[in-house]
Amino acid sequence: MEYTTDYLAGLIETGLKELKYPNEAPHLFDPIRYTLEGGGKRLRPCLLLAAYSALSHSDCTEVLPQALAVEMFHNFTLLHDDVMDRADIRRGRPTVHRRWNDNAAILSGDAMLTRSVQLLAECRPDVLPDILDIFNTTAMEIYEGQQLDMEFERRSDVTVQEYLEMIRLKTSVLLACACAIGARMAGASDEVRHHFYEYGVALGLAFQLRDDWLDTYGDPAVFGKAIGGDILNRKKTWLLITGLQESDGELASILDEDLSDDVLIAQVRGVYDSLSLGERCGALAARYSAKAIESLDKIEMDTRAYEFFRSLALSAASRNH
Ligand code: IPE
Ligand code: IPE
Ligand code: MG
Ligand code: MG
Ligand code: MG
Repeated sequence: MEYTTDYLAGLIETGLKELKYPNEAPHLFDPIRYTLEGGGKRLRPCLLLAAYSALSHSDCTEVLPQALAVEMFHNFTLLHDDVMDRADIRRGRPTVHRRWNDNAAILSGDAMLTRSVQLLAECRPDVLPDILDIFNTTAMEIYEGQQLDMEFERRSDVTVQEYLEMIRLKTSVLLACACAIGARMAGASDEVRHHFYEYGVALGLAFQLRDDWLDTYGDPAVFGKAIGGDILNRKKTWLLITGLQESDGELASILDEDLSDDVLIAQVRGVYDSLSLGERCGALAARYSAKAIESLDKIEMDTRAYEFFRSLALSAASRNH
């Protein structure tokens, strides 16, 4: 097995292209095809394939349907997330609700959720109950995280601890779930599965901290999403929470003013810069990458597999898209 994201993501691209949809109801399936053809890093299915390979030494194509299921589920969450976040651009293209409409994003998203469960169930019957349990628990946690994310928009007293729990739920658990499903399908012990899950959780925290950083400091041409959406939505990112705590009311009063989008983003960013929040957010993300590697160190695997997971942990905190 080749432990590179290019190789593993290539398997996912091919697998996604081969999925068949009914000929009827093109309006339901066109947005799905559009979404799945639009690129994406394929991080979660790569984690699942690599965890399986690292622990089983079998060909990872054995678990391709489950890897596709996780990617399908992720893309379902994005369709709904872009409606909730009023986001216009993803992967450098109009989001589904912009290209079609909100109803298309809702219903095609629903179809993706069901398709992901169908793919997940294409596994050995003896492991199915465990796989469904991991997956369903994760899905419910993600909805909980997304609910908190929205509720936090209207609060100004959110703590860093609440934020970390919210991103653990909305983002980390899916990365952890991908690792845990790969490990379970490989027949790993509960202990190994636990360490892999914890690896995924820490990786996810680094990943979301960097996502929030990129939303303010990224290059839209590379990131593929518009910059400043989190600020406009008053998303309680680590940057905004810490800025509110440390700017002596300055950030709070900027957020209260009736400013144009560009001016608001520039002024908030000015406060972030004056407190070196960008650098400090990066340092926190790097701490979670290191924590992920600590969990990884507890799992026995060959050097190539180890290096793959290690470099993923490091890149989560330094990626540009
Ligand atoms: C976007 O996930 C949603 C977050 C959890 C930040 P990705 O950054 O993995 O999105 P794609 O699939 O690569 O586009
Ligand atoms: C996304 O968080 C989490 C889920 C989709 C579950 P964000 O809202 O930050 O993701 P992006 O930035 O839109 O990709
Ligand atoms: Mg969003
Ligand atoms: Mg969101
Ligand atoms: Mg984001």
